[in-house]
Amino acid sequence: MHQSVLVTGASSGIGEATAVHLAHKGFRVFAAARRIEKLNALKALGGGKITPVALDVTDDASIKTALAEIENAGAVLYGLVNNAGVSVMGPVELVSSDEWRRQFETNVFGLVAVTRAVLPQMRGAGRGRIVNIGSIAGRIAAPFQGVYASSKHAVEGLSDSLRRELAPHGVKVSVVRPGFINTPFGHQEQEALERFENEGPYADQVKTFKAWHARGHPSAPGPSVVAEAVHNALTAQRPHSRYTAPPKMLGALAMRNLFPSAVTDRIFERVNGLNAHRKEEN
Ligand SMILES: NC(=O)c1ccc[n+]([C@@H]2O[C@H](COP(=O)([O-])OP(=O)(O)OC[C@H]3O[C@@H](n4cnc5c(N)ncnc54)[C@H](OP(=O)(O)O)[C@@H]3O)[C@@H](O)[C@H]2O)c1
Repeated sequence: MHQSVLVTGASSGIGEATAVHLAHKGFRVFAAARRIEKLNALKALGGGKITPVALDVTDDASIKTALAEIENAGAVLYGLVNNAGVSVMGPVELVSSDEWRRQFETNVFGLVAVTRAVLPQMRGAGRGRIVNIGSIAGRIAAPFQGVYASSKHAVEGLSDSLRRELAPHGVKVSVVRPGFINTPFGHQEQEALERFENEGPYADQVKTFKAWHARGHPSAPGPSVVAEAVHNALTAQRPHSRYTAPPKMLGALAMRNLFPSAVTDRIFERVNGLNAHRKEEN
């Protein structure tokens, strides 16, 4: 059976790789984002199974129009992959309130709005899968990542509630947590950090953190590892509540769960070089 799935944020990176992977696995994929020209280019890679849909997850009217388009195409959604996301990096103290709001508008309220819009259909059918793209940052919050990490912590919490609320309705919910993945996201994060590395009270720390971050993204795995995890969440008879991609990141999560913060803080500081900036209380 060719099941239909909506993938948000499909014009780049993980969403793009997921749309193509799911199309190759036989899904009918509605690939959604704001940059429709990028989605039109993606169509050619999907063997006739990818339909581009213009969608801004922060705009209720846009969500309504996109879902009407999918309905007019005769599809009933079996799956929703909430992948669209942005990353606002910088010190918690210095990131502007507008930027804080922009982060949550996309990663949290946008995800909630799209989910709420598809749920009546899924509940009506008594079946469906929702896959929320979280992040390792939804469990481990690095410094200068507080804005983004708090949005991904929110995704973890709301996914737990949703999973429990929807279980009696036949709709299953999973979180896929990518670690560092080599996509344009890394450049976006570097640019965001640039604003804070030359002046202000955190400049030296930001410079050190940014250098570590710059080394991480290019050497990270490509997005196909996440696309495979999404496919598992959509097709397993009993999907896990959480998938970690790549699985080697499970080590970092285990460490976070097993050791007290005083220990993990020291370990993570050594990894990213911020131990050089540590000052004990006067
Ligand atoms: N790359 C990583 O290391 C990493 C790690 C952990 C988690 N993640 C998560 O994985 C997801 C995808 O990230 P990525 O690495 O693939 O980033 P990316 O290459 O920058 O892609 C982000 C996607 O989100 C879409 N998007 C942003 N704002 C949107 C909006 N308002 N409405 C609709 N679409 C919107 C963008 O499309 P348009 O601009 O065309 O709308 C784009 O397709 C995000 O949720 C991110 O938090 C990434």
